[in-house]
Amino acid sequence: MVLRFPQDFLWGVATASYQIEGAPWEDGKGESIWDRFTHTPGTIADGTTGDVACDHYHRFEEDLRLMRDLGISAYRFSLAWPRIFPQGEGKLNEKGLSFYERLIDMLCVLGIEPVVTLYHWDLPQALQDMGGWENERVVRAFEQYAGVVFRRLGDRVKLWITHNEPWVVAFVGHYTGEHAPGLRDFGVALRVAKNLLVSHGLAVRTFREIGKEGEIGITLSLSPIHAFSEREEDQLAQKRFDGYFNRFFLDPLFRGAFPADVLEWYAKKGYPLAVSKEEEAIVSEKIDFLGVNYYSRQVVRHGCEEPLLKVATVKPEESQYTDMGWEIYPQGILEIVERVFQDYAPRKVFITENGIALPDQLVNGTINDGARIAFLREHLRYLHRAIQRGYAVKGYFVWSLLDNFEWAFGLSKRFGLVFVDYATGKRFPKESFFFYREVIEKGIEEESQ
Ligand code: FCB
Repeated sequence: MVLRFPQDFLWGVATASYQIEGAPWEDGKGESIWDRFTHTPGTIADGTTGDVACDHYHRFEEDLRLMRDLGISAYRFSLAWPRIFPQGEGKLNEKGLSFYERLIDMLCVLGIEPVVTLYHWDLPQALQDMGGWENERVVRAFEQYAGVVFRRLGDRVKLWITHNEPWVVAFVGHYTGEHAPGLRDFGVALRVAKNLLVSHGLAVRTFREIGKEGEIGITLSLSPIHAFSEREEDQLAQKRFDGYFNRFFLDPLFRGAFPADVLEWYAKKGYPLAVSKEEEAIVSEKIDFLGVNYYSRQVVRHGCEEPLLKVATVKPEESQYTDMGWEIYPQGILEIVERVFQDYAPRKVFITENGIALPDQLVNGTINDGARIAFLREHLRYLHRAIQRGYAVKGYFVWSLLDNFEWAFGLSKRFGLVFVDYATGKRFPKESFFFYREVIEKGIEEESQ
């Protein structure tokens, strides 16, 4: 039996500007915090930068043809804010904007729906120099940038995502320091998290005011959080980690208030966060959809690995892990979708990222990535079950079209359906590319009993 997905289901792939474009100094682009960070020694595991990455800036036509061959109906990508506003605010750089206009025009010709993320982490460095997301002026600059692109691209783009994974931006960028801008201060991270959400809400308001046809939402990285044991201390650790990772974002977006237990814990640890009613009202501005990036679950217990939360993560021995060290846990996609609908009732959900890093090898021009095929197949079976249960999941985007620059891991992690030979820039569709094409065309076979 073949499991079919709804007629109007969006099948897509996702990418992000800094991870694929290269060309950091071309056509008037300003410096981003990722340009600065990757050129700081010791930040990137393999010492690479995104200076060239997939060279997509020059090769986008070829990449769009790959998408056409793949048969996708939607393409999720992000705009590099410093291409459009090199200083983050002030003067618009027409040449930078025109790159995205050409990209979008070609997508329209190919019948592929553009899904545009406004912020996938490449903040203009000039804004970081004034304090970055901690500074409210940056929040206002985002609101203005959003307004400009809604006006300029809003006749062709119908699906907008304000932010990608604010948890990662706030805590990996400002607490653990593994991402740009590389700060290590929990208090800063908290204020950044709040400001990102406020900037999201302001962008949604602006979108409604401008009145272009289309839909707007935000993408969160969400994971089921499981307690290692039934012991009370592990159960409490589970609740804290879920509060940190999931509820801190979901609650204000859908319920108009940051979770009290989480704020209380942080305050007790010396990190009170001031939140006004006005801010909470902005954050909870109604969205049309929630984007969910799903990669894995987290198993946690009481411990000291994360001293502030008093939580340690556990890696179940019986499980399999990806090249990122992430547990493969396909049923989690169903679990997180159910949880989100039951607790927060979004109008609809898109799975805006799901995928796996593998140590792919190019052998005689082909890449046999059976483990990626198995990963996608399993996740899609569980996603199908979510749809059957009546949850409004309206699309699925594989991370990623191409192998690309995987942030702190540089070019060493391969997530693509298409292999990139970085020495030549040549692209080679992997076996999983052909698998995904068939899924889009025909659906997916049911699990053999
Ligand atoms: C997500 C990011 C995306 C990519 C994948 C592997 O957290 O949104 O850019 O790096 O992880």
